[in-house]
Order: sequence, then C-alpha cells, then structure tokens
Amino acid sequence: MRYLLVPTLFAVFAGVKGANFAYEAELLTDADIGNFSAIAFGDVSTAAPLEGCRAAPGTAEWPLEREWSQLNSSLGGALIKAVPPAAVCYDGPSRDEAACNILLFNATFNRYYINNPVNQFSEWPEGDTCHLRPASGESCTQGGFPTFVVNATTVKQIQMAVNFARNKNLRLVIKNTGHDLIGRSAGAGSLSIWTHWLKDFEFVPQYKIGEYRGMAARVGTGIESWEMFAHMSTHNMTTVVAGGYTVGAYGGWIQGGGHSALASKYGLGADQALSIQVVTADGRFVTADPTQNTDLFFALRGGGGSTFGVVTSLVVKAHPPTTVLSSTIAYSVGGGFNVPVPGDTEKFWTGFDLYHQFGNKVVDNQGTACYVSRLTNTTFSFTTDIELPNVSEDFLAEFVRPLVEDLEAVGLNVTYEPPSPAGNWGAGAQGRGDTPGSTRFGSRLFPRENFEDPTLFAATQLAIRQSIEEGYTFHGIHMVPTEEVAGYPGNNAANPAFRKTAMHADLFDFTQQRGLTPTAFTQAHDRLAAAMDRWRAASPGAGAYFNEADLEEPDWQQAFFGSNYARLLGVKRERDPWGLFYAPVTVGSEAWAVVTEDGLPTQNGVLCRVNATAADAGRRAKRGRRVVG
Ligand SMILES: Cc1cc2nc3c(=O)[nH]c(=O)nc-3n(C[C@H](O)[C@H](O)[C@H](O)COP(=O)(O)OP(=O)(O)OC[C@H]3O[C@@H](n4cnc5c(N)ncnc54)[C@H](O)[C@@H]3O)c2cc1C
Ligand SMILES: *[C@@H]1O[C@H](CO)[C@@H](O)[C@H](O)[C@H]1NC(C)=O
Ligand SMILES: *[C@@H]1O[C@H](CO)[C@@H](O)[C@H](O)[C@H]1NC(C)=O
Ligand SMILES: *[C@@H]1O[C@H](CO)[C@@H](O)[C@H](O)[C@H]1NC(C)=O
Ligand SMILES: *[C@@H]1O[C@H](CO)[C@@H](O)[C@H](O)[C@H]1NC(C)=O
Ligand SMILES: *[C@@H]1O[C@H](CO)[C@@H](O)[C@H](O)[C@H]1NC(C)=O
Ligand SMILES: *[C@@H]1O[C@H](CO)[C@@H](O)[C@H](O)[C@H]1NC(C)=O
Ligand SMILES: *[C@@H]1O[C@H](CO)[C@@H](O)[C@H](O)[C@H]1NC(C)=O
Ligand SMILES: *[C@@H]1O[C@H](CO)[C@@H](O)[C@H](O)[C@H]1NC(C)=O
Ligand SMILES: *[C@@H]1O[C@H](CO)[C@@H](O)[C@H](O)[C@H]1NC(C)=O
Repeated sequence: MRYLLVPTLFAVFAGVKGANFAYEAELLTDADIGNFSAIAFGDVSTAAPLEGCRAAPGTAEWPLEREWSQLNSSLGGALIKAVPPAAVCYDGPSRDEAACNILLFNATFNRYYINNPVNQFSEWPEGDTCHLRPASGESCTQGGFPTFVVNATTVKQIQMAVNFARNKNLRLVIKNTGHDLIGRSAGAGSLSIWTHWLKDFEFVPQYKIGEYRGMAARVGTGIESWEMFAHMSTHNMTTVVAGGYTVGAYGGWIQGGGHSALASKYGLGADQALSIQVVTADGRFVTADPTQNTDLFFALRGGGGSTFGVVTSLVVKAHPPTTVLSSTIAYSVGGGFNVPVPGDTEKFWTGFDLYHQFGNKVVDNQGTACYVSRLTNTTFSFTTDIELPNVSEDFLAEFVRPLVEDLEAVGLNVTYEPPSPAGNWGAGAQGRGDTPGSTRFGSRLFPRENFEDPTLFAATQLAIRQSIEEGYTFHGIHMVPTEEVAGYPGNNAANPAFRKTAMHADLFDFTQQRGLTPTAFTQAHDRLAAAMDRWRAASPGAGAYFNEADLEEPDWQQAFFGSNYARLLGVKRERDPWGLFYAPVTVGSEAWAVVTEDGLPTQNGVLCRVNATAADAGRRAKRGRRVVG
C-alpha cells in the first residue's frame, strides 16, 4: 500500500507548508504556466463575477481542441474524455459488446461504478439517460455527465483544472465517489475534477494543534469509509466515517455534516477535522485550521462540498478503538395471507409510539437506532437496529429488554435478535454495496423536544404515520451530535439543527423516477412534498440534512444551514467572487440555475446566472445537447 511510503516521503517534502502527502508537495508554478495563460492563477482582489452562461460544448466559446490537448499535456495526460458508463451497451460510437457484457455481468458489484470517472449513484439528476439495461425507447445521451474529467493524483493537476475552468468560463464539477443523491457531483458540459484516487493515509500517534493533543490521522480525500476500517484496525484506533461503506469518508460527507453510528458519542464528520488542505477558486493551495484561513476552516466543516474549494487532504481526530453493538427488533401486522384485524393496525402504531419514546434512552446512552417501516396494502412492518458504542452484549440485551416487553404487552409478535456487531460499523463489506438507482426522498432533523413534549410528540407521530399510510417508506436515525460530544475545535458550519435534533428522518418515494414524463415526475414530487410539509409543520424552525435531502426543499438556505447561512455566504463571496464552484442548493447557488430543456431540476442543462434571459439560455441548452450513443 502506498501509505507505507509516506513517512519516508514526508521528510523530503516537509518544506511545503501544510502538505500532508507527497501528492501535495509539488505546486503549480509560473514556470509550469509558461505561455499557457489558460492555467494562470486568479486574483480575488480584482475578480469579476462570471456572468451569463457557462461555455457549452459546440459553441464558439468552448475551448479549442488544441487548448484541451495543451491542458492534457500540462496535466501529464490525466485528461479523460467523459463517456457515460453504460454507453458501451447502446448503439453509437461507444458501443462495445465485450465491455457491455462485463458491465452487465459486474453490475451487481459496485466497484465498477465507483471506479468509473463519471458515474452517479442517483440517476435521475443526469436527465434519466443511459441506464444500464435499456428499456425500449430509451437512449444514451451525454445528459448531465461532464465532458472532460481530470483524473487527479496531484494538487498541481487540481490547480491547473481550477484555473482552466475559471479562465475559460467552464462549468466546474468535483466528483469523489459520486454518491451524492441530488446531482451535486454531475453537470452537463463541465470539466470534472475526480478526487477518487487520493487515498494516502498516515497515522499520527501524537498530534498537536491549537488546544488539541492526541491521536490523529492524515487522510487523502479519496478514501472510502470501508477503507478506513482497515486503517483503524491496523492502528488500534477509531475515526468517524459514514455507515454507508462506499461513501467517501472525506469528500462531500465530512464537508456537508456526516452522520454515523458514533454521532451521539463523537459528533458529526465535520466535527472531526483539525486541519484541511484545499485548492481555492483562485487556484492557490492553502491550509485551513484553527490558526490560519479560519474563515475556510469554519466553512469547510459543515458548509457543504463543492462550494469553497477542492479539499485534497485533512488531519482528523483519532479516538480510542470503539466497537458498536446492535440489537435488531422487528414486528409486523397483517402479513402474508392474513387479513389485518382492525385492532392490530392500532397495535402497530402504539408500538411505533413506544419505540419513539424509547429513542430518548438510546441517544442518552450515546447510541443510534434506525428503522424502516413499510406499508403495502395489507402489511405494516417495523424493524430497528438499536446500536450502542462501547458496551457489552449483556448490557445491550438488558438495555433493550424493557422495550421488547412493552411491545409484547401491547400484543405485538416481536422478533428480537440478540446483540451482535453493528452492520454499519466495522470492516465487513470490502467496498461492495450500492449500485445506482433512481428514487427521490425528503428529510427532516426532528428536534429532541418533539419526543419530549406530549403535544409535539403526538403531532410528530401523526405526521409520520400519515406519510407511511400514503405508501412512503420511513427511515429514522436517532442521534444527538451535540457540541458537547463534538468537543474541540467546535465553532463550525454544521447545521445548527443537528445540535438540537434527536432524529434524522427520511421519507422515501421508492417508485422509480426512471421513464416518467416531466409531468409525472413533477406530480410525484408534489405528492412527496405535501407529505413532507406535514413533517415541517410538526417541527417549525428545524432543518434538514444537506447531504440527504430533497433538492426542492423549501427555504433550503434556512433548512440546510440555519443561522450560519449569512456568514457562509460572506465566505463564499470573498473566496470565490467568480462563482466558480457550483452545485445545486449549495451556499451561493441561488445566483445560478441549470437551464434544462424539459424544465426538470436535473443537471442536464447549461449553468446560467439567474438573470440570463430564458430564451438565450434555452438556445444554449439545445446546442449543448449531444447524443453519445
Ligand atoms: C448508499 C449511500 C449511503 C450513505 N450513507 C450515509 C451515511 O451513513 N451518513 C451520511 O451522513 N451520509 C450518507 N450518505 C449521503 C452522503 O453523505 C452524500 O451522498 C455525500 O455527498 C457523499 O459524498 P462523496 O464525496 O462520497 O460523494 P460525491 O458525490 O463524489 O460528492 C458529494 C459532494 O461533495 C463534493 N465533493 C466531493 N469531494 C470533494 C472535495 N474533495 N472537495 C470539495 N468538494 C467535494 C462534490 O462536488 C459533491 O458536491 C449516503 C449516500 C448513499 C448514496
Ligand atoms: C509556448 O511555449 C512553448 C514552449 O514551452 C512553445 O513551443 C510555443 O511555441 C509557445 N507558444 C506561443 C504561442 O508562444
Ligand atoms: C445580468 O447579466 C449580465 C451579463 O450577462 C450583466 O451585464 C448584468 O449586469 C446582469 N444583471 C444583473 C441584475 O445582475
Ligand atoms: C490525454 O493524454 C493521454 C496520454 O497521452 C491520452 O491517453 C488521453 O487520451 C488524452 N486525453 C484526451 C481527452 O485526449
Ligand atoms: C468483473 O467481475 C470479475 C469477476 O468478479 C472481475 O474479475 C473483474 O475484474 C470485474 N471487471 C470489472 C471491469 O469490474
Ligand atoms: C485514474 O488514475 C488512477 C491512478 O493513477 C489509475 O489507477 C486509473 O486507472 C485512472 N483511471 C482512468 C479511468 O483513467
Ligand atoms: C488498543 O488500544 C486500547 C486502548 O486505547 C488498549 O487498551 C489496547 O491494549 C490496545 N490494543 C493493542 C493490540 O495495542
Ligand atoms: C469504554 O468503556 C470503558 C468502561 O466504562 C471506559 O473505561 C472506556 O474509556 C470506554 N472507551 C471508550 C472508547 O469510550
Ligand atoms: C393497493 O391500494 C391501492 C390504492 O390505495 C390500489 O391502487 C392497489 O391496486 C392496491 N394493491 C393491491 C395489491 O391490492
Ligand atoms: C401474533 O401471532 C398470532 C399467531 O400467529 C396471531 O394470531 C396474531 O394475530 C398475531 N398478532 C399480531 C398483532 O400480529
């Protein structure tokens, strides 16, 4: 593994201020730029905001072939022409029978997608195009996929890409794993910076910064959660990473908040960063920590990815080794051939209330619990994994026993699994897991008081029950990532609603969005939004988690950033006066819009200042559309 080399290499490049790894040692210089002014640095003090629309492929403004190839040679050949992964299965220039067979064969293993430069795990933001197994009438277009990708393995390449995009008025995208659920790592006609291969790691037994003294880890931003578990066991420590194993541990997850099975014990992902290396919109490489570039240090910890710069590595806290045990509890009513007995349905909801009251005990013991509750016409089912860190099996078994007894006392047939290691915390999945899908959902950070005040509790439970009865799937994760458990350095941009919450809840519309007409797509969202409105009404002033959210969340600035929004917007304007970094519903993104032909909120269109006239933008959108297959 490369990380074994790091201690030796570090001695050589320790001269570069702030660099954690060899790939950060060599920076872009004037000599590198030479007469290729397209990759020259920007200057925030004289910056003019980018106006109108970003350059679209096929227009006069788009860089010439010669310029792309000069960029490629400056990059050392790291420029990739972007092709949607499934294009090999469609008629057209990319068709490749053998590659298609490999793809079809491997489609259940997600490594193929993770190692693909452009893939997104949520398909609808691309514009519902180029699906793996084409249904009749479906085609493969470039859609919201980028046009070129920089397969970054050095900071110097990232600096060149940032400068080229800014100087050439290109849409710039940053992709790590492509897990973003609403298209934040996609964009039609864009140059994409792919951070996936920045996987260096170094354990630091004694790290000192500001008031922090203790274990830490230097981490490259391409490391996935499952890869961190190997480092944790090698070094007998724990770092906080996502429970979704293939989620990037240090890209969008940590910058946008980041919850895990340890949220109630150590806080959010954003609470773990001690020092951050970042390429800013002017192309410069800087360190943000408690003593320097403190505005960026604030913003990059919770203020969202794809907004303030391209993060290349971090130093994060390392905690003593911490195990998590889980106990699964389930019950259902009306399953199989049974016709539901009317009274049983009420028993179901009584159990649902008992569980949510018990949630307060879970979080008080630094735990999390999550469940999915589905409705088919004849079945309600409930299942939860109650998870506590650093406890014995006996402790957890005793801990959940009162809940099991209470549920049984109601007359529910409860299935109970004795404690075992949590499925979302530990080395097990080996990088396998999710494959792309196309659904939508909404979310809410329900405040703790909603589970303590009887009136609020009743309103909350009713709002959730009604949404489940409508056919949506509910998923609630109990957590209390307070500032107390987060500890030093604190003062970050994580959504203040996280500090007051006891449950992050999602409402999924598992009906496929694929193949829907624009009208049907919009109507499906309107129905979901109406169910979400009831959740919002039951939790006025609360918020929603930026990384797991509805793209069309009303008043998203308040919902995702709360009272931090004004300060974050100030940092954004100062650090990126061009408006170079853009992704939907990120800080400052209200100044921009992706103009799509079908009017849907996808990334399949040209990015324009909101004041551009619709007609002009429409013409550009048409010209930008290219058929791949
Ligand atoms: C299957 C699945 C499981 C999940 N599990 C969890 C979970 O357990 N806990 C949780 O909190 N969330 C979870 N999420 C949500 C997750 O936090 C978001 O999808 C997150 O945006 C993923 O970040 P990424 O870097 O892996 O993905 P990407 O899609 O590559 O990036 C996400 C965003 O961050 C930006 N970005 C990425 N890298 C950088 C960088 N180096 N510098 C600047 N910007 C960057 C991108 O531009 C984009 O805007 C899950 C999502 C999925 C699909
Ligand atoms: C730019 O510099 C290169 C050498 O680095 C040279 O070959 C090329 O002709 C120069 N181009 C222009 C336009 O000056
Ligand atoms: C709108 O954009 C144009 C450039 O496309 C610019 O000249 C103009 O000032 C902008 N208007 C506003 C209100 O920002
Ligand atoms: C960039 O250069 C490399 C190496 O020469 C080449 O393999 C690759 O195809 C080039 N990329 C593009 C987009 O032309
Ligand atoms: C496809 O799967 C096979 C068998 O598991 C594996 O050997 C191969 O590397 C995979 N190929 C790709 C491109 O993922
Ligand atoms: C990207 O770079 C990595 C690391 O050098 C390499 O292993 C990988 O094959 C490259 N991917 C593509 C698609 O070029
Ligand atoms: C791991 O660390 C814990 C406490 O931090 C310690 O008790 C234990 O002995 C260590 N284990 C090994 C194998 O070093
Ligand atoms: C786990 O619990 C033990 C006993 O209460 C305690 O000594 C230890 O510090 C705890 N470890 C962690 C990582 O919290
Ligand atoms: C379930 O109920 C819906 C209406 O609520 C109905 O359209 C559907 O046909 C029913 N499904 C089954 C399997 O009975
Ligand atoms: C529990 O199981 C028994 C026996 O199968 C059944 O008669 C009863 O209806 C079930 N109760 C509920 C609430 O599902």
